[in-house]
Amino acid sequence: MPHRERYLFVCTNRREESNPKGSCAAKGSEAIAAALKKSLVDHGLQKRLRSCASSCLDLCEIGASIVVEPDHVAYGRVTEADVEEIVLAASKGEVVERLVVHRGDKR
Ligand code: FES
Repeated sequence: MPHRERYLFVCTNRREESNPKGSCAAKGSEAIAAALKKSLVDHGLQKRLRSCASSCLDLCEIGASIVVEPDHVAYGRVTEADVEEIVLAASKGEVVERLVVHRGDKR
């Protein structure tokens, strides 16, 4: 399989409920990761885009979090309801501005 145009890294880290940092898995990121994969298949995009489960992206306080590369954009407070919009935007090289919490240099 060739290198993809874009990678969507979904934090699926889970911490104990008592941990004050919280975790993306506790905010539904495992279901988000599954929905992303399904959406890519449903839209026939799996050869252009790839969704990858990730360990902690150090964005815990705004989870569930997703980092899109090479756009170098971080999405925060993502829910399953956002998945379709994220996939369609990524397929067009666009960003879902309302979910952006960090935007880094592409370099
Ligand atoms: S637990 Fe998801 S960014 Fe840290």
